[in-house]
Amino acid sequence: MLNEDIYKELLTKYTGHFGFEPEVVAYAPGRIEVLGNHTDYNEGYVISAAINFGTFFAVRKSAGQGCRLVAGDLMKEVVFDIGRVEPAGSDGWQNYVKGTLAGLADCGVIECGFDGMFLGNIPLGSGLSSSAALEMSAGLAFSRLYGITVDSVTLAKIGQKAEHDFAGCNCGLLDQISSLAGESGKLVKTDFRSVVYESVPAGGDICFLMCNTLSKHELADGAYNKLREACEQCAAHFAKVLRHPVKALRDVTMAEWAIYREGLPEESARKGAHPIGENERVLLGVRLLETGDVAGFGTLMFDSHASSRVLFGNSCEELDFVVAAAGRIPGILGARLSGGGFGGSAVVLVHPRDAETVGRALENSFAARFGHPCEVSVITPSEGAHIVVGP
Ligand code: GLA
Repeated sequence: MLNEDIYKELLTKYTGHFGFEPEVVAYAPGRIEVLGNHTDYNEGYVISAAINFGTFFAVRKSAGQGCRLVAGDLMKEVVFDIGRVEPAGSDGWQNYVKGTLAGLADCGVIECGFDGMFLGNIPLGSGLSSSAALEMSAGLAFSRLYGITVDSVTLAKIGQKAEHDFAGCNCGLLDQISSLAGESGKLVKTDFRSVVYESVPAGGDICFLMCNTLSKHELADGAYNKLREACEQCAAHFAKVLRHPVKALRDVTMAEWAIYREGLPEESARKGAHPIGENERVLLGVRLLETGDVAGFGTLMFDSHASSRVLFGNSCEELDFVVAAAGRIPGILGARLSGGGFGGSAVVLVHPRDAETVGRALENSFAARFGHPCEVSVITPSEGAHIVVGP
């Protein structure tokens, strides 16, 4: 469904359910991670884009302390008191909203409850950050509703804290920053040490396909947290053996890794090599895009996936299949897993004129292997989160 249709559906559902119109509506997109996997929490670099799929959050102040929050797709409502915003064990979606609300409450005064509803079109568990889109749309809507002014990086950090404290995933800042910083037709390069982002020209010759494998293999958050720990252990090793300061794996080069890895258990060393190599690929990738070398950039995407598969261990059979098939289909320039891993989507780089044929070829070969096609959608780098309706 088009984003505009989702917006209209949300307004109809909101007024039907609550009996009045919302005061504020905000929108936040999901994201694709184009290059730079698990580099954000290692204080490195990522190239990403906000996508043409997202979430709308509609809200109005309530008369007292009561809060009613509705997931518009399920029309399921949870009720709580604004003075008691705590993580819940069921209906996980409420935790992204509650966590964001709790973070905003630290930045200003929230004097009353609300009636809120959200609706989006990002397939859940597809690796396109539906949770960050929910946090950022809720965060923008609440900050306008309650008059709490926060800058983008602070809002992104509030969303990240919601993931850590309310949803149990120790993620980096990539998803929230990409959702806020996206620009139509442009990619975003972020330095996650300084949290400074800039746009990178995408050029008219670039188009992305997202191939949702519909697979989810491990309890993604638990596995994600373990990978993060492995990276931190690796960084601690290099901090001891290198002469220059090492705060995170961002401070280690592949050349240093090759010489100074001794003393690290084999598996930790392998895992640590992934974000280190990814950082180098992102910096090279920016230079290639700037000179219009799209084919060279695509090769870096294939290299990135190989690094996930062989070194980091965050791929899976379905993602490997899509990327290998992509390597054989003429017209595909690059492909890799996007996001945390262990399932979800692969992102594929094509020339816009080939998007349709290539997408069909991928669906067919996936169906021949797994008995059902992967879901292919065309991704357009799109504008970031914004207020749609508000005082
Ligand atoms: C998930 C996390 C991000 C990032 C990516 C991997 O999307 O939420 O912070 O670490 O995985 O690059």
